[in-house]
Amino acid sequence: MSSKTFYITTPIYYPSDKLHIGHSYTTVAADAMARYKRLQGYDVMFLTGTDEHGQKIQRIAEEKGVTPKEYVDHIVAGIRELWNLLDISNDRFIRTTDKQHEEVVQKIFKKLYDQGDIYKSEYEGWYCTPCESFWTEVQIKEGACPDCGRPLELTKEESYFFKLSKYQDKLIKHIEENPDFIQPASRQNEMLNNFLRPGLEDLCVSRTTFDWGIPVSFDDKHVVYVWVDALSNYITALGYLTDNDVDYRKYWPADVHLVGKEIVRFHTIIWPAMLMALGEPLPKQIYGHGWLLLEGGKMSKSKGNVVDPVILADNYGVDAIRYFLLREVPFGADGVFSNEALINRINSDLANDLGNLVNRTNAMIQKYFKGQLPEKHQEGEYDKQLEEMALQAPKKVEGYMDSLQFSSALTEIWKLVSRTNKYIDETMPWVLAKDEAKKDRLAAVMYHLAESIRIISVLIQPFMPNTAPIIWDQMGIIKEVETPWASTKIWGKLRKDVKVNDAKAIFPRIDVEKELEALEKIHKKQIKMQQCKQPTAQKEEKQSEYITIDDFAKLDLRVAKIMHAEPVKGADKLLRLELQMGGEIRQVVSGIAKHYSPEDLLGKQVIVVANLKPVKLRGVESQGMILAASDEENLLLVGLDGEMPTGTKVS
Ligand code: MSP
Repeated sequence: MSSKTFYITTPIYYPSDKLHIGHSYTTVAADAMARYKRLQGYDVMFLTGTDEHGQKIQRIAEEKGVTPKEYVDHIVAGIRELWNLLDISNDRFIRTTDKQHEEVVQKIFKKLYDQGDIYKSEYEGWYCTPCESFWTEVQIKEGACPDCGRPLELTKEESYFFKLSKYQDKLIKHIEENPDFIQPASRQNEMLNNFLRPGLEDLCVSRTTFDWGIPVSFDDKHVVYVWVDALSNYITALGYLTDNDVDYRKYWPADVHLVGKEIVRFHTIIWPAMLMALGEPLPKQIYGHGWLLLEGGKMSKSKGNVVDPVILADNYGVDAIRYFLLREVPFGADGVFSNEALINRINSDLANDLGNLVNRTNAMIQKYFKGQLPEKHQEGEYDKQLEEMALQAPKKVEGYMDSLQFSSALTEIWKLVSRTNKYIDETMPWVLAKDEAKKDRLAAVMYHLAESIRIISVLIQPFMPNTAPIIWDQMGIIKEVETPWASTKIWGKLRKDVKVNDAKAIFPRIDVEKELEALEKIHKKQIKMQQCKQPTAQKEEKQSEYITIDDFAKLDLRVAKIMHAEPVKGADKLLRLELQMGGEIRQVVSGIAKHYSPEDLLGKQVIVVANLKPVKLRGVESQGMILAASDEENLLLVGLDGEMPTGTKVS
């Protein structure tokens, strides 16, 4: 085994049977990275898993009439199947219900308590179960959650607290001295300016109001609360504080924790503070990637596109999905997912560019040389240019992969694909084939194509683990000798007299219109099924809650434009917005921070409830409310079908 190690993790997923293509994003990215490092000779530990405790799970299980463990066992089996389907090569899968994890979390909690980093106090607040958040009296809106509008429960309970505040200065120093610790850099500034510098409060780390969690070993009416349980997975999975901590000593500190942007805060503040308290080294990097969105909002199965990864992988193949996820959007940024964009990428990049290159080359070698090239070749014009480009590509790809720029790495590989296609046009093999005297030159041209394809096929492996071996088989490339990662840096590794095999199209072209129609049908069917699942009582209740037109007329709804947006200090779900509404500027505080970043909002037209009684949320006055549609995990702002002057009445 290699002495170079590489430890990469994804977040552990909440058990949900609604995992969509956005959820697969973190895992596919981590998988590409793990595969790349393995190809480079690293001893890789790639960890993923599930985050299974909490009141929400307990409630769902109760509603379903099963135990929480039965419920999560069933869901987690589905998540594991999904990762299998997507060819995720994780070395370990941790569940927070694993016995080892539970025991070690108890040890961690006790250690921190014994040394005074965890202390007992009291927590009082309004609790929203779906959001798993506490709210103070000033923040709540008419007894309801300011974020989701659902009813709240007043909860006062004895709790243990972690002395997060004690680590504030040390954390700031660490982040300032280690610019790679939080990536991309924009997320580092966000953490420093919005959370760390304004000041940290101690963190509530135990609960007594539910019991689906890890009991505090020395006070069993408490269970360990959310983040201490979840974040510890990165070290409990390696045997930290157990008799067998070989892996911990070998792989920790992690090289990179890949996480979505909404959980960067927990990973760059709570987690390092916990590790500092434990006296353990900090991870080398936390990388916060962007979201895959549907037309400006977060993803859900009810927004017109088919986002079910199982259906997508069945229809287009796993590699096409993996390619799309990592090619379409630069990794740190948000990007829009649509079925149309996916199909267009498959047609242009995979069927046209790569698929055609392999197919044409294979067919020409069969046609001109009965499938096997002669030993004798004659070099000629354009050869050197192609060779040079092929030799530069791997270095560039490595540079991008080392900084998790998957999309740029793929762009670089596709530049070589295009260059190789261009080489066919330049050398015109069909003309050479007409002249028997040019047979040796024709052989060199075919060899250059095949050799370039070999290099491409090795480079795409981390992203498209199934396609590479298909190309090797079709092109007669010998895996053991001609495909090690280092072989991409040498031109001429392929045997001069390579023999190709019969081939068929790797990525057949898709008829865009027909396919979109078919997907639309699948989508409608899914929506119907969802509606059928909605309990009848709930539907009837909705029908009886009529209001009159006079009731509606009491609402003063206006068009407004977002001129400024910024986070509200100390509240990770709230944004403070300044809205242009006719001649006036309105300040509105809105619970949309988990779904929109401030930059996304600038210039957007929204609908405001303009005559809502002003309230203070986290000390900031909110003079109205903007309208949004939301379900449990998604939220989309309500807008207009075009532009209207601000202040226009909506009725
Ligand atoms: N359980 C926590 C993580 C605890 S880690 C100690 C959690 N789980 S999650 O299931 O909600 O999210 C898992 C991952 O999926 C996160 O990285 C999240 O950002 C990612 N995504 C979920 N929806 C996504 C998109 N629409 N787009 C991109 N990534 C998305 O958070």
